[in-house]
Amino acid sequence: MVRRKRPPIAFERSAGVVALCIRAAALALLALSATQPGFAGGRPWDDPSLAPDLRARLALSQMSQQEKLSLVHGGLGAPWGHEPKPAGAIGSAGYVPGIPRLGLPALQETDAELGVANPGHIRRGDAATAMPSDLALASSWDEALARRQGATVAAEARARGFTVLLGGAVNLVRHPRGGRNFEYFSEDPLLSGAMAGAAVAGAQSRHIVTTLKHFALNDQETDRVALDVQIDRAAARESDLLAFEIALERSHAGSVMCAYNQVNGVYACENDWLLNQVLKGDWRYPGYVMSDWGAVHSTVRSALAGLDQESGEQLDTQNFFDLPLAKAVADGAVPQTRLDDMVERILTSIFACGLYDDPPRPGAIDAQASDRTALQIAREGLVLLKNDGVLPLSAEARRLAVIGGHADKGVLSGGGSSQVLPRGGVAVAEPSALIEGDLIFDPSSPLEALKGQFPGARIEYDDGRDPGRAAKLAAQADAAIVFAYQWMAETADAPDLVLPNRQDKLIEAVAAANPRTIVVLETGGPVLMPWLDRAGAVIQAWYPGQKGGQAVAEAISGAIDPSGRLTVTFPENEAQLPRARVPGDPKGAPRGPVGRGGHYGRIFVARYDEGAAVGYKWFAERGERPLFPFGFGLSYTSFALSDLAASTNGGLVTASATVRNVGGRAGVAIPQFYLSGPAELSIPLRLVGWRRLELQPGEARRVTLEIDPRLLAHFDEAARRWRIAPGAYVISAGLDAAHREQSAVLDVGASDLPP
Ligand code: BGC
Repeated sequence: MVRRKRPPIAFERSAGVVALCIRAAALALLALSATQPGFAGGRPWDDPSLAPDLRARLALSQMSQQEKLSLVHGGLGAPWGHEPKPAGAIGSAGYVPGIPRLGLPALQETDAELGVANPGHIRRGDAATAMPSDLALASSWDEALARRQGATVAAEARARGFTVLLGGAVNLVRHPRGGRNFEYFSEDPLLSGAMAGAAVAGAQSRHIVTTLKHFALNDQETDRVALDVQIDRAAARESDLLAFEIALERSHAGSVMCAYNQVNGVYACENDWLLNQVLKGDWRYPGYVMSDWGAVHSTVRSALAGLDQESGEQLDTQNFFDLPLAKAVADGAVPQTRLDDMVERILTSIFACGLYDDPPRPGAIDAQASDRTALQIAREGLVLLKNDGVLPLSAEARRLAVIGGHADKGVLSGGGSSQVLPRGGVAVAEPSALIEGDLIFDPSSPLEALKGQFPGARIEYDDGRDPGRAAKLAAQADAAIVFAYQWMAETADAPDLVLPNRQDKLIEAVAAANPRTIVVLETGGPVLMPWLDRAGAVIQAWYPGQKGGQAVAEAISGAIDPSGRLTVTFPENEAQLPRARVPGDPKGAPRGPVGRGGHYGRIFVARYDEGAAVGYKWFAERGERPLFPFGFGLSYTSFALSDLAASTNGGLVTASATVRNVGGRAGVAIPQFYLSGPAELSIPLRLVGWRRLELQPGEARRVTLEIDPRLLAHFDEAARRWRIAPGAYVISAGLDAAHREQSAVLDVGASDLPP
């Protein structure tokens, strides 16, 4: 949402009496604008005191049919085949020319999930701050930090002249092997919605249109363009769609990107149920739906189902929203009012997000501020999974062995459209065995950072290629730190959860040589840990961004308390997961957009029979014990929870508990509240809230939170309502999903809520 000195504009379509007043004013203005060129010296829609949708209609009323059509489709902002980069494009994923005659800005679209991307290095030498992965950000459970991430990335994007950000990615981590999990936030709809919503709200506070994606159920990469996700509609509402719903409520994202895949037999970008009924109908979404790049398959069907803008059109088999749409409107197959609605929605977002009133002014970025944000996310996102007392490493340590993971040079990042060319230069580029492309290591050497934390120690590095040699070095050291990594990238899922390149063997060998072995994991999601019993400590660092080496070193020395908590369940073994492997044949169909004349492969069905029981919910339903549960993470201090109380007041459920730091040093507690309920609740366990608290030793705080009523409800798809069944609900609190020592039973009456 726009934050300006003038009174805030509600980013909602005008409703009720107010709408009538505004409409009357609008008619007067429309009449005025028809006869004179400007309003108080400008254009009628220049007036920032008017509602965004009204300003949009005023501008729309002045547009020619050609101008309208020019806004509803766009191409790549980069060269393609023999086509050069479009004139006016900065050089990025997408570009829709503006309409200077009417003062309407170009839509310069950049990927920006984890920093401003630079695909194919099209903007030669243009490096940006490489942020930690979204799984790292989410592991902080810190919405204020997510907001700051969004604002920081948006500031960097605006400094380059970008006007549209293609992120946050709020798909659920439904498959632990998912190739884009590092771009996603969690397996839980409330947590994902809150964190992605905060990041997008932060971005839009800088007056830029931001996009929630990929709507919906693009939870796997394998054959994503040929994938038909079959899921019970109510289960979708209670899981993936709820994440979008919450993120939208909290961010008022200007745009939503529809996904590549089909949902229940219909492509997401021509899916009337998803776009018209759920998004624009039930959720009353006033912004616009843009397609993913190569995700459009029709003109009339898509237009009527609610798609407002075709993106990256060279990647579709034809430019569906260019001449074919013009013809369809001329023929009456797509009503003129629908075209006007598309344009009005795009313009509404341009006004509501502040882009029109405050266009970007290219200039320098505040690199130090960006670095501070990247470092803070890396610090808060580190999850200490195991500690036999090895950590924090004593300042007395005289000799340390640092092994593997290019830890002498940098830290890993994920691949695909979110890839950032890091400021400071690529530390290492290693060819990938998984897909075409390189693994990029960000320039933040853990080795150098450790030297800073342990100035008196002799610190030696071994690249880990020879486990025997690495073990020898480890045996001579006070402690060994092994950096292990798993590269993940858009367009491919991991074949399994095993660390690639026999790194398990390396860890086994080092841990056998030195029990004071600390394993640092740079992975795109959960991995298996057959060596866990032998390791002295394990730190999950995710892809920690271009300050990540520093954060890891600080956690090892104890300069910071590792305060992240898992937002995904780590299974003990893959047999515990809903399916043996990601559905589809990774080699069976072309990967990613295929462009002109290409084919998308034969559609195949992936049945998501687990429905809304994603991640920890699945484990709870099955009574399975994970390796590390959702919400888990150790600290250098310890915490106790007590005095859980729950009450209802006018249908609103409130829960409180007291959290105390019972250890010897300051640290961060993240008390979590869960709910389970009567049989009508299809889901056995739900996260309903949390707080992130910094507590001094001995300090106690009482936490109180109100529970979103949708989290007590099941979705009744036939009636299109959330229904709360009467009965006894259990509210529990704990420091992770599997350890909820406190609980309270609450009788709740029946009620129902609109979607
Ligand atoms: C990805 C989107 C991205 C777009 C533009 C697609 O392949 O799925 O997330 O925003 O490309 O780069």
